[in-house]
Amino acid sequence: MVGFPSILEGIKDLKKGHILQLLERAEDLKSGSPARLPLQKSLAVATSFLEHSTRTKHSFAMAIKRLQGFHIDFQAENSSLKKGESLEQTLLTLHYQGIDICIIRTKQSHLLDEFKEHPPIKIINGGDGSNQHPTQALLDLYTLSEQFGGVESLKGKTVAIVGDCRHSRVTHSLMDLLPQFGINVILSGPKEFIPQNIEDETNKFQVSNDIDETIKMSDALYLLRIQSERHTKGFEDTLTSYKDSWGIDFEKLRKNEKSLPIYHPGPANIGVEVSQEIVDSEIWMAHEQVRNSVYMRMAIIEAMITNEDQKIGSIYNKVPGDICAGNSRLNTK
Ligand code: CP
Repeated sequence: MVGFPSILEGIKDLKKGHILQLLERAEDLKSGSPARLPLQKSLAVATSFLEHSTRTKHSFAMAIKRLQGFHIDFQAENSSLKKGESLEQTLLTLHYQGIDICIIRTKQSHLLDEFKEHPPIKIINGGDGSNQHPTQALLDLYTLSEQFGGVESLKGKTVAIVGDCRHSRVTHSLMDLLPQFGINVILSGPKEFIPQNIEDETNKFQVSNDIDETIKMSDALYLLRIQSERHTKGFEDTLTSYKDSWGIDFEKLRKNEKSLPIYHPGPANIGVEVSQEIVDSEIWMAHEQVRNSVYMRMAIIEAMITNEDQKIGSIYNKVPGDICAGNSRLNTK
């Protein structure tokens, strides 16, 4: 896809036109359309997950396989990063070994910022700290658009993100993505879980600290787990009182006379933010999100491979012949 970024760190790296094309292409791929990768060789991808993952890592692995490529599982713990080599030199090494794209997940937010001006290799962010998880948000939009009969039909619909929005990278990506398609976003949860400085954006997002009000106003709920690994101070509530106040079960839906689809990026803590009964029911969309993740990630890889960006690698990149020709000390014969 011409103009598609070589570093997909966050949703703001994409133009709306890119997103619409990704939705269309994911749908084509799901319908059995063959891959479109004009490479002279097999697609080669490195995955480097410096934080745990089940869904993202393996759905990328499936997407790469379906694109008839292969992936190398780059293990930072056993790499020369441990001997003091910089991440940039590591990524350049992968590039010159012939890797086309590196997918990186890190605990640290904004780790990829430094590479945006001169990409050492094409990079997809698989989630960085509490900053961004763009591929998750894109597959969520795709799943929502399937459920509601196309992306145009989402205009005017209300999606409530419920729970630990402040520490959730998926929330930050969804906040950048959903309003572009006319979707109203409610951020719902205890006060300590609402993103800081949201007051500056109240024209864009509604905030609710009342789950009944949230359910009544919504067309879909997007639940989050409590991301305690990213908390700087302990969570004041107990899990039992969180479940009672914020956990979604059929009792709360019935009380508010609502039946609506329930989304979750996973991993879900069943019995805390969602009941087992909901997970076993047809309103639970998380399995569909996982199914769709493979097609959306195939579409993203295709788009990045075909972006026609030639400026990847070292900024001192020169072919050896040029260097020798211009170097009088080497031209003494
Ligand atoms: N949604 C998501 O990122 O899940 P994993 O942490 O299992 O990859």
